[in-house]
Amino acid sequence: MTITRRKFDALIIGAGGGGLRAALQLARADAKVAVVSKVFPTRSHTVAAQGGVNAALANVSPDNWHFHMFDTIKGSDYLGDQDAIEYMCRAAPKVVYELDHFGVPFSRRDDGNIYQRAFGGQSQDYGGEQAARTCAAADRTGHAILHALYQQNINARTHFFDEFFAIDLIKDKEGYILGAMALEIETGEPILIEAKTTLIATGGAGQLFRTCTNALINTGDGMAMALRAGVPLQDMEFFQFHPTGIAGKGILITEGVRGEGGYLVNADGERFMERYAPRAKDLASRDIVSRAIAIEVREGRGCGPDKDHVFLKLDHIGADIIKKRLPGIRDSAITFAHVDPIESPIPVYPTAHYTMGGIPTNHKGQVVVPEREGPEDPVPGLYAAGECACVSVHGANRLGGNSLLDILVFGRAAANHIIGYLQEHRYHRQMDDDGIDMAMARLARWEQQGEGESVPELRAEFRKVMEDHCGVFREQNNLAIGLEKVTALRQRLQNARIQDQSKIFNTARIEALELENLMDIGIATVASALARTESRGAHSRVDFTERDDTNWLKHSLYFEDGRLDYKPVRLKPMTVAPFPLKPRVY
Ligand code: FUM
Repeated sequence: MTITRRKFDALIIGAGGGGLRAALQLARADAKVAVVSKVFPTRSHTVAAQGGVNAALANVSPDNWHFHMFDTIKGSDYLGDQDAIEYMCRAAPKVVYELDHFGVPFSRRDDGNIYQRAFGGQSQDYGGEQAARTCAAADRTGHAILHALYQQNINARTHFFDEFFAIDLIKDKEGYILGAMALEIETGEPILIEAKTTLIATGGAGQLFRTCTNALINTGDGMAMALRAGVPLQDMEFFQFHPTGIAGKGILITEGVRGEGGYLVNADGERFMERYAPRAKDLASRDIVSRAIAIEVREGRGCGPDKDHVFLKLDHIGADIIKKRLPGIRDSAITFAHVDPIESPIPVYPTAHYTMGGIPTNHKGQVVVPEREGPEDPVPGLYAAGECACVSVHGANRLGGNSLLDILVFGRAAANHIIGYLQEHRYHRQMDDDGIDMAMARLARWEQQGEGESVPELRAEFRKVMEDHCGVFREQNNLAIGLEKVTALRQRLQNARIQDQSKIFNTARIEALELENLMDIGIATVASALARTESRGAHSRVDFTERDDTNWLKHSLYFEDGRLDYKPVRLKPMTVAPFPLKPRVY
């Protein structure tokens, strides 16, 4: 088969905020840049980010980047790398002002400055009064950012491959990444994109769980590609459950609701967060609020006929604020929960939201394969940014509003490093056939119909297993059974069938390729969770209830062959004194 080949300086896989921020930086530096996206770019999952992006602008409360750094380290339950966190918090105001200049329509204060709202885990003066650090465009901040970045990229002549699915990275014998093989979804034709540098920016893997805030596209494709290319995945046991998904549906109700003054109540009408986080209350960090809701329900204080959720009350905020600051939330509540929050509370329950782990990178966006005893070696030509990457700035628990910040800061940083790399690597390296053959074999596996189980049924079963065995609370025996089940499901997928291509276009084939990726990420998640015998951040073990800094202050690394290794947390910031480890109370 003849395969179409295209050549670029830089290939970016994924057109969310991280990919588009990087692409813009590169295109403006006159690099020839291609973005491959399996959906039209403005449908990427960044569009769903609601509450805002953190930056210490001090428009609403006294603030500086060092307070932000402290909150992020504490929020991470001390698993975040302090050098990368310093880099991100220092860069935050700059990237937000850049967005302002790109045309993002931020909400404004009466004085004309960017509006900032309170979000969970934010404080003034290292754990003091609540801070308001999250820069918002009503409750559609991601939508505003993604559209502005896309328009800027069109203007900068970035080349887009819309609705192309990346199958695998191409790697040569010396370990250089030389681009990727992709599939045009409409025609089913493969295309080889050769590139001197490749940036993975494919987002997270929220589709691992049956109830989640994530789009159907969030199947961990980039992480799985990296794993197959020999890169281990870092800290996969840390998966964030957002406290307020619409009960039974999982749809996101932004933390911004609590930032604007909303609060949670149980069936007795009690504002129960006062018991779990006496000072921060409803604006404690997400892991704490999610566990509190799960405990209220488990102990019989849930609301509704099945006592299976709690209420998020915001009617007291008033119709004007709700319409001005939270219009999207009101729409979602009316459409999916059949309540108007101006009058009635929203039924909510924790929902899978964010992959804290991912492809290990340094703060320049380079993918690093860690050596236990030695320095971390960058994989030549390979970069990652955003939710698919693990820098690690979020550690064991991400703070709300730091996700949009992460994609902007590290998308930009990766592009800046790529610009330097391109100056030193002016020519494309020779590509041999091995990498191409491997990617084509993966594709060929799903070209024919066959006998066997159905892919959608396996997908549904897998996501239920993940929810039952690796959810908010975890335990040895349940995790071990979960690992057996997901491993068996992966085997069964080998013999699955897809339906008639002629009837259903290429979507069945894409769904099968996605499920392979998702299952590989699921196995990494459960195996890493089973091994970590402590509770830290979002990883909550009922059989090991305490944080164990003596044995577990380390990042996990999961390899494709199932092996686990560990590497130290980077406790030394770039320029300031380290923040010492403390018990985490809110
Ligand atoms: O609650 C939210 O608006 C989500 C924000 C985030 O995950 O950063």
